[in-house]
Amino acid sequence: MKVLVTGGCGFLGSHVCELFRKEGWEVVSYDSMTKYELQRTGYGTDRTRNFNWDYLKELGCDMVKEDVCNEQALKDYSSGCDYIVHTAAQPAMTISWEDPRLDFNTNVLGTFNVLDAARKHKIPVVNTSSIHVYGNKINDTLTEGATSYNRDPVAISEDHEVMVGQLAPLHASKMAGEHYVRTFTDLLDTPAATFRFTGIYGPRQFGGEDHGWVANFTIRSVFGLPLRVFGTGKQARDIIYAADGARAFLDYFRSPVPGVYNIGGGPDFKISLLECIEMIGEILGRKPEIEMHPERPGDMRYFVCDIGRARKNFNFSPRTSPRDGVEQLLRWVEKNRDVFEIKS
Ligand SMILES: NC(=O)c1ccc[n+]([C@@H]2O[C@H](COP(=O)([O-])OP(=O)(O)OC[C@H]3O[C@@H](n4cnc5c(N)ncnc54)[C@H](O)[C@@H]3O)[C@@H](O)[C@H]2O)c1
Repeated sequence: MKVLVTGGCGFLGSHVCELFRKEGWEVVSYDSMTKYELQRTGYGTDRTRNFNWDYLKELGCDMVKEDVCNEQALKDYSSGCDYIVHTAAQPAMTISWEDPRLDFNTNVLGTFNVLDAARKHKIPVVNTSSIHVYGNKINDTLTEGATSYNRDPVAISEDHEVMVGQLAPLHASKMAGEHYVRTFTDLLDTPAATFRFTGIYGPRQFGGEDHGWVANFTIRSVFGLPLRVFGTGKQARDIIYAADGARAFLDYFRSPVPGVYNIGGGPDFKISLLECIEMIGEILGRKPEIEMHPERPGDMRYFVCDIGRARKNFNFSPRTSPRDGVEQLLRWVEKNRDVFEIKS
């Protein structure tokens, strides 16, 4: 069996490549290696950029440096594949409004091209979206003394209304990608699914303030740098460990029911920013320094996925608790300190 993973050298994509490789698949990692958001993390970008490439090459993946905007290259490289997993993206909110054309080209045109390649070769495809499509007006409550925002009911299903509140280009491009997935499924004879991911974390994540907060807090804590928290710090998410997220693509391949799926840790893995920082401190054996800042416009205070549909249709089940997952991430950062090129 052979899979093409767009964005294979990205954080999630690298875990998908690793999992499928370990399951005995041939894996093609298809990535333009742009990784714009790396420039904002404050870490050196050259070594971080190449880290996943070298790691996947070592695992025996076929490495392709190409753009999802290149329609012909995508069709050529996916020829002979049994499956496409599409994780290539411009994933950062701030970049989307600073460079909306880049956001559009990568997330809309790129996703269209991926679907068109799947259509040509008649193979299943899964697109990666985000809980961003729900917008930023989820009802939440913060009761006196609570350590996190809450909501009743706790979990939000795929039937919840989308695109509510003030919208950025990233909301539009992710939603447009989802609409094309549906179009290809409904009328163009290409059964496809979209996974709406909540916060993913794990080894090989070079997270910054913009994208990848668990890794950002972990990396800065390991290096003894202050953590900047925007808002109360009680914002809550059901975080998912990257290897569990990658497994969702394999589970889907074995039982492919087209549609939209929330993929997250679910209510059992809900955690607030401050709870996460406390956990990092416990694992590290010292308290991270925290700087509190005003809430940023558009930040979501609460999101916890209802993962019942993915559980029912393809037996998806996250396995790694935040405590275990954060510890694995932290140990990976400690082991690879030199990759971050932080001079402190
Ligand atoms: N990381 C998270 O917490 C999270 C949460 C929700 C949704 N997601 C979604 O998961 C997907 C993967 O996110 P990630 O965190 O792995 O991001 P990432 O930035 O680490 O990976 C994206 C990869 O795509 C590549 N890429 C960018 N533009 C490309 C292009 N034009 N052609 C080919 N490759 C290109 C980049 O070089 C990068 O390696 C995205 O769709 C993102 O929106 C991620």
